[in-house]
This record gives sequence, structure tokens and C-alpha cells, in this order.
Amino acid sequence: MFDELISHLINARRCVVLTGAGISAESGVPTFRGKEGLWGKFKPEQLASMDAFMASPKIVWEWYNWRRELMGQVRPNAGHLALVEMETLFEEFDLVTQNVDGLHAMAGSKSILELHGNIYRNKCVDCDGIFEFRGDIAPDNIPQCGHCGGKIRPDVVWFGEMLDPEIIDAAFAQSEQADVFFSIGTSAEVHPAATLPVVAKNHGATLVEINVEETTLTELADFHFIGKSGDLLPKLVAQLKERRSLAQFPELA
Ligand code: OAD
Repeated sequence: MFDELISHLINARRCVVLTGAGISAESGVPTFRGKEGLWGKFKPEQLASMDAFMASPKIVWEWYNWRRELMGQVRPNAGHLALVEMETLFEEFDLVTQNVDGLHAMAGSKSILELHGNIYRNKCVDCDGIFEFRGDIAPDNIPQCGHCGGKIRPDVVWFGEMLDPEIIDAAFAQSEQADVFFSIGTSAEVHPAATLPVVAKNHGATLVEINVEETTLTELADFHFIGKSGDLLPKLVAQLKERRSLAQFPELA
């Protein structure tokens, strides 16, 4: 199934992977789009925007407490773990994620750029001071910043907000230098994240998509595989490892 792709991977020096909510779906974290997705049940502008927070920090924190609790109960799945192994198979490997669940780090991936923040981190709405705190925030008694007295919010990117320029710039730089770029478990509908695969392809990378369904990116991809990342990635990594060792020790072939 992966034979032709693996011939490309064998010669690739730098691999960049972009992940979205789909890679955590098999861990039990809901995705955003589609019938079962969070944005099918909730209105993003009422929960994930600065306006919503200023209007009702209580409702916003109740929602984030619920998501934290849910994410706190889940573990990395076979897809996250396969990416940890994949990191060892390339000279350079970068993981860029839109997910805020921290599951890539928990799995053991090292070079991770979290484009949309991390749900376990908090920051001050006024001075951007960072507060690491994983537990629930009392929605009726939201903590204030010790430096300036501003309200504490989750350190995730909300609708209408800019991404951290250092992080997104680094992601673009990595994508431009990629020999192979994987887009895994993302609908590729949210920019600037969805621009990264396009930039990689325009700079000569082989573009690979893994998703349970086709996306707007599928047409551009050199290879696309329909299936669950937790099924496909371990198989791909096993085949790549085998081909890499055969390439190293041709006498075994
Ligand atoms: P989406 O919910 O938009 O897309 C999830 C994708 O994962 C879909 O294309 C599914 O088909 C696919 N999928 C589901 N299960 C899968 C599985 N087991 N294996 C592989 N693919 C699977 O999530 P994102 O693309 O991550 O932003 O959404 C991007 C951003 O939109 C999020 O980071 C969030 C949201 O609004 C912010 O919160 C800023």
C-alpha cells in the first residue's frame, strides 16, 4: 500500500508533519467539524473568542474546564506513538500541530510546534503573563494575574486572534525546507495552518495526506491515504523502518 511513497521517503532528509484534531479522535478527543464535531454542537463565537470571554468568562471557563477534564482522561493512541518513532527515521523531523491537547508531548515527540496553544496553559488577558495550571479554574471566581490584576484565560488561540508570530514563522520556515510533508487528521480549513502544506508543496516537497475522508487538500496531495491515522501510521512506519534497514544493509535484501 505504501510502496511508492516509501521510495520517496527513503531519499527524504527533512520530514514535516502537520496534525489536526483527527489524530486525537481515536484517543477520544472530539474533532471540530463534521456531524459529531464540537462546532456542530456549540457556536465557536460564543465560546472561543475574546468577545465571548469578556461577555461571560464564567461560560467560557466552564467550557474549557469540561474540555480539560475530557482531555485529562485520554492517552496518546497508536498514531501519536508512530510519529514518535517516525522522528527517528529522518535526519530532520518537525511536528506542527493545531491540537491543544498535549498528546504529542505525552507520547514522547520532541520537536513540536503548537500553533493554537495548549489547553493546560493559562495567560493574563492584559499583560499576556503565562500561568501553568492544569486543574479546574473556579468559573465563579476566576483568578487574576498577580502582576497586573487582569483576568486569567486559557492560552489557546481564539477566533479572530493572531498566532504567536515566532511559532507560525518557524512552521513556515520548516515547511519551506521540507522534502516530504504529511497532513494528518486535519480538515485543512483553518488558516494559516492550512497554508503550510501548500507552501511545502510549492517549495518542492512531496505532499502526503492521511485522513478518514477527502479534504480540500486531497487534490493537491501527491499521495493520499483514506483511513484512521492510528491504523495507517504504525503500518507506514513499520514498512519505512524495514526499507531503511534494507537500504543500510543491502546484503539482507
Ligand atoms: P477538524 O475537526 O476541522 O478536522 C478533523 C479532521 O480529522 C477531519 O478532516 C476528519 O475527517 C479527520 N479525522 C477524523 N478522525 C480521524 C482519524 N481517526 N484519522 C485520521 N483523520 C481523522 O479539526 P482541525 O483540522 O484540527 O482551532 O481543525 C483546525 C482548527 O479548527 C482547530 O485547531 C481549532 C478549530 O477551530 C482553534 O481552536 C483555533
